[in-house]
Amino acid sequence: MKVLVTGGLGFIGSHTVVELQAEGFEVVVVDNCSNADESVLDGIEAISGKRPLFEKLDLRKKNTVQNFFSKHPDISGVIHFSASKAVGESVEDPLLYYENNINALVYILQELQQRGNGRFIFSSSCTVYGQADTLPIKENAPVKPAESPYGNTKQIGEEIIRDVCHIAEDFNAISLRYFNPIGAHPSAEIGELPIGVPQNLVPFITQTAIGLRKELAVFGNDYPTVDGTCIRDYIHVVDLARAHVVALQRLMNAENADNYEVFNLGTGTGSSVLEVIESFERISGLKLNYRIAPRRPGDVVAAYADTEKANTVLGWKAQSSLDEAMRSAWRWEQKVKEQKTGNS
Ligand code: UD1
Repeated sequence: MKVLVTGGLGFIGSHTVVELQAEGFEVVVVDNCSNADESVLDGIEAISGKRPLFEKLDLRKKNTVQNFFSKHPDISGVIHFSASKAVGESVEDPLLYYENNINALVYILQELQQRGNGRFIFSSSCTVYGQADTLPIKENAPVKPAESPYGNTKQIGEEIIRDVCHIAEDFNAISLRYFNPIGAHPSAEIGELPIGVPQNLVPFITQTAIGLRKELAVFGNDYPTVDGTCIRDYIHVVDLARAHVVALQRLMNAENADNYEVFNLGTGTGSSVLEVIESFERISGLKLNYRIAPRRPGDVVAAYADTEKANTVLGWKAQSSLDEAMRSAWRWEQKVKEQKTGNS
């Protein structure tokens, strides 16, 4: 079974390629390398013993997408990761986000619809729920107006897919709404490689501990939570990657209940920012340099998944603890440093 993984050199994409290959899928990775490096293929190969096919392509061009599918008529499923994901940047340059995140999606769907029997997995986000009225968050919780163009592209993306599923009975799709993916492969061969200053909590913690950043700013400690800091559902990226394989197999085996389905992917456990710091300190034996800073605009107070649907319907459950995920993130940060020191 040949599977196209767009954005397959990225953080979640690369871990998913590893899990797909472990299940015997033949993977074609397409990435434009705007936010990823071709050397990620070496890491994938080191883990899998197999290098996936790779094409450096920009899927925002319709004829590039058409040419790709003519060259690979035997693609039996698509997992679509490629997208821009920096919330702040999306506010600064909304059209870049609409172009990157919507154009490629539409062109791929056009090809799949035309060919018939399309199977499509979409990278969505818990950001579609905004601040949910009820916790934990179920899939049928209302989608709230997006806080950013990035969030809006995820909502629009889901709507586009739903509309295609509505008219094309032989087109099957699953949107996976991720909570907060963290960590790295336990081998430390692949992991997250943020470009510039990380916006997300865990890479900021590990970069501070390794000495790349002076201190972590904890954005707000006056929220109505256990310790005043925001609550999120941090999920190990390997668990998340496995969910993609399970979702694709569901479509391949025609086990899906509807031709469009949505699943939350989280652990079901909420952790505060201070609890994440404590976890890091526990697994590393280090003291993290942090200070309390003002709230970050746009942050929701608390978000964690109701995992019932993913557990029972999809048949997938996150396995790793927060400490395990933090340990893998820390090991990866140390490996990145070793490589830099070795190369300099
Ligand atoms: C963010 C995005 C979300 C996106 C996800 C992708 C926002 C508002 N949301 O989620 O749309 O899908 O990344 O991974 O940007 N924190 C600090 N100090 C830091 C960084 C973060 O205290 O330097 C806190 C935040 O306030 C938050 C928690 O850590 O409470 C997690 O933040 P982050 O990793 O950025 O994820 P989200 O904001 O949940």
